[in-house]
Amino acid sequence: MHKEPIIGIDLGTTNSCAAIVEDSGNVKLIPYKGGEYTIPSIFAIDDKGNELIGFEAKRQWQLNPRNTVYGSKRLVGVNYSSEVVGTMKKAVAYNMRAGTKNDVTLDVGKKEFSLQEISAKILGKIRDVASNYLKTPIKRAVVTVPAYFNDRQRQSVKDAGKLIDLEVVRIINEPTAAALAYGVGKTLKEKVVIYDLGGGTFDVSIIEIRDRVFEVKATGGDVFLGGIDFDNAIIHHVLKDFAAKTGIDLATDPVAMQRIKDLAERTKIDLSAREEVPFNIPFITMTAQGQPLNIEMKFTRKMLEQLTNQLVDRTLQMVARVLVDSGLSTKDIDEVMLVGGQTRMPVVQDRLTKFFGKPPSKGVHPDEAVAIGAALYAHSLEDNTNLRIQLLDVIPMAIGLERGDGGFHVVFPRNASIPNAKQLLATTSIDNQTELAMRIYQGDHDTVARNDLLGEFTFSGIMPAKAGTVNVEIIFDVSVEGILTMRAKDPATGREMKTTVRVTQS
Ligand SMILES: Nc1ncnc2c1ncn2[C@@H]1O[C@H](COP(=O)(O)OP(=O)(O)OP(=O)(O)O)[C@@H](O)[C@H]1O
Ligand SMILES: [Mg+2]
Repeated sequence: MHKEPIIGIDLGTTNSCAAIVEDSGNVKLIPYKGGEYTIPSIFAIDDKGNELIGFEAKRQWQLNPRNTVYGSKRLVGVNYSSEVVGTMKKAVAYNMRAGTKNDVTLDVGKKEFSLQEISAKILGKIRDVASNYLKTPIKRAVVTVPAYFNDRQRQSVKDAGKLIDLEVVRIINEPTAAALAYGVGKTLKEKVVIYDLGGGTFDVSIIEIRDRVFEVKATGGDVFLGGIDFDNAIIHHVLKDFAAKTGIDLATDPVAMQRIKDLAERTKIDLSAREEVPFNIPFITMTAQGQPLNIEMKFTRKMLEQLTNQLVDRTLQMVARVLVDSGLSTKDIDEVMLVGGQTRMPVVQDRLTKFFGKPPSKGVHPDEAVAIGAALYAHSLEDNTNLRIQLLDVIPMAIGLERGDGGFHVVFPRNASIPNAKQLLATTSIDNQTELAMRIYQGDHDTVARNDLLGEFTFSGIMPAKAGTVNVEIIFDVSVEGILTMRAKDPATGREMKTTVRVTQS
């Protein structure tokens, strides 16, 4: 029987990419209009109300910054009250406000969108491009997420698929996918480091490859560290310089900001190949007297390195932590693999060479490896032979519950392997209590207030009895995708209790 194919999708912060394993067994990237293999992860609505996605959206973003959404992967599954929302607000021109579930809602072209809806628009575009190219309707996909995504963020990507009838058959981690692109079909026995510095996120995983078994030893990352932050360092410098020269703050002018942002990214990219690049923007604004003003500057590679030194430091600190977590030393590592566009910056490669005592490998394509790995895994899911790929992944941050004193009771430590299940015995604290509620968090801090709230679980149907005399068995299940479900049982009768989950204000 020939089933509909499953494609692999790398849903990136800045660029998205899709691939498929063909009947011949070859992996193929899906091209857009014959050329590009990546599509900008940008969604816009123009002044006539047309929805634009990908290149069409990028082409008009300078003129329509308020209704052009980019970098939105950083807001997926994030609480509106979270610190990162404030940071994002300063960096982008589109409007965000609190949604009904303490999530973020965006206003685009006078309509409101949840982050799931924006992800769904981009996934939908990729699906349509793939369906067109493959001349068959695509209904299923393996979609990648940053290894450092928490439960809520993963759930959000699954929900995005549901909105457009795209079955997300499996969520896998981006660095793990990149390792598949490197290792499948090579009969390797190696320990590799995947260093993935993309547009929005940083991930590092240490993976042991034994032929078709890919075992993640440890992972870490930062969903707020990527190419966008390198651009912002340039932008910040330009704004400061301009203000010092003219007394004018360009930050309040969205069109000027968009032009600076565009050139900042191009300058950063050029500086990976050149030592010095001019930074000129004519007629950026006018003086109070109506005199046009230009930006006339230049950037050197050294300057960029100084401005972004701390960002690179943060990635290396994380590499060091993950190495410790894995119980390995730099000598045990066979290959260091670079993934993500931002790893083209020479200083990133130099610093990694120093750290590991050997240069990183060019074993995978930094922009394409993740989608290729997702496609290989998609294919393997359909494969009933013993050539199936075996993924043994881990959770990136601890999952646990709130203690009475606001402390964090860890149920699964970070780097716990998945799938995984744990049981916990709880009891009632007041007489005739029929419900038990617990708040579940994910994060690496000792106090729950600093971690992310995953939800409030209420178990009802407890037999009324004296406090402390009834037992409730709580079962925590983390799926292969790193998504948590909870159940509760009465251990005396074996009866399952009703569970409701609510994401509340944190
Ligand atoms: N030659 C280069 N030098 C420096 N940076 C580059 C270069 N080419 C691309 N980049 C940067 O790489 C980033 C995009 O990388 P990539 O496409 O891997 O990200 P992504 O997959 O969309 O994001 P993420 O994986 O974080 O979700 C952008 O910030 C871009 O400016
Ligand atoms: Mg990426």
